[in-house]
Amino acid sequence: MNIGIDKIGFATSQYVLNMDDLATSRGVDPDKFSKGLLLKALSITPITEDIVTLGAAAADSILTDDDKATIDMVIVATESGIDQSKAAAVYVHHLLGIQPFARSVEMKEACYSATAALDYAKLHVTANPDSKVLVVASDIARYGINTPGESTQGSGSVAMLVTANPRILELQNDSLAQTRDIMDFWRPNYSTTPFVNGMYSTKQYLDMLKTTWAEYQKRSGKKLADFAAFCFHIPFPKLALKGFNKVMDKSLPDDVKARLKENFEHSITYSQRIGNIYTGSLFLGLLSLLENSTSLKAGDQIALFSYGSGAVAEIFTAKLVDGFKTHLRQDRLEDLARRTAISVKEYETLFYEEADLDDQGNATFSDYLTGPFALTGITEHQRMYQRTDGK
Ligand code: CAA
Repeated sequence: MNIGIDKIGFATSQYVLNMDDLATSRGVDPDKFSKGLLLKALSITPITEDIVTLGAAAADSILTDDDKATIDMVIVATESGIDQSKAAAVYVHHLLGIQPFARSVEMKEACYSATAALDYAKLHVTANPDSKVLVVASDIARYGINTPGESTQGSGSVAMLVTANPRILELQNDSLAQTRDIMDFWRPNYSTTPFVNGMYSTKQYLDMLKTTWAEYQKRSGKKLADFAAFCFHIPFPKLALKGFNKVMDKSLPDDVKARLKENFEHSITYSQRIGNIYTGSLFLGLLSLLENSTSLKAGDQIALFSYGSGAVAEIFTAKLVDGFKTHLRQDRLEDLARRTAISVKEYETLFYEEADLDDQGNATFSDYLTGPFALTGITEHQRMYQRTDGK
């Protein structure tokens, strides 16, 4: 039985910060961000958007009533959770109106966990071929004002529907993971922003890629030439480019190398305009590739490198199915162009606003732009979500 991604959707915030503005404000040469990191803009969320509203919006953009009546598992993968106990998936399940006899859980291992969620979804559908599993990778990457990581922030969510006989791509059975106990990036419970050994994290990312890819090739017998494209976790596009250069086989014919490079460029198109979305970054890269590449065809294989600090990495692969293009959008860049541009001052206020709770645990928020769902307030320490688009 073939199992894989039947639908894939995306949501991000309504506000955007231009990298040139950030560079000017921080006294940095704009080329450092545009050429050094390959970034153009970052998606910035107000307090009324979180992993639940973004995740529900991403899923809402792809699900039909029939899907909602059939989905029997909802997994939210995140490293910017809103509650230590209650899973964000429970809120998402409710906001989307998914039938009640479903399992809803949250998964965590930095930016990696959506890959584990996909594997869990695949195993569930293997055992229950009529099932549909909703996997949502949702995060807000927030490092702090004037920190080294500030230029690599972002926010967004990717939703994937995993089914038998998928209409976009089949997940293959040759994945290989690697675990390495390191402190490159972590966020203790008492901190709202992560601790980061930035340069060390980039070295670990690249070494986990090199070693996992080498072992994957040895075990699977596959090599780069077997793939039409290689997608990477994209904390910032320049690191993904370094990853691409690391796996490149220089002995390949020029036209094969050129096609891989062209598809790599398509895979970073969205991230360049959104920034890091942690768990969703790899899948945003996949979506960007699928929606923007004109050379991909049914039967083509795609390799994917997932990396979560701490660290867990995985190489897994997928095969495109007949007609995949008709289940994707062609105009997503127009959505991104419609976001409201904000100044650095506005970003500093918007992105770091924290709930001002009274003694009873109540807070209200200003009326910011959001997608179809919003966090409207906190009542007695309970987060209040609403559908705001009147549907
Ligand atoms: N013109 C052109 N390029 C310039 C330039 C200029 N004027 N000034 C600097 N550059 C280039 C640098 O040469 C460098 O490019 P190379 O790496 O190709 O040499 C690039 O801009 C970045 O500059 P720096 O090396 O000075 O690094 P930085 O201060 O921008 O910090 C970082 C980079 C440490 C990664 C920082 O962004 C950070 O801490 N980010 C958060 C952590 C992160 O994303 N880690 C990635 C791996 S961990 C992971 O993958 C999990 C996750 O999602 C977090």
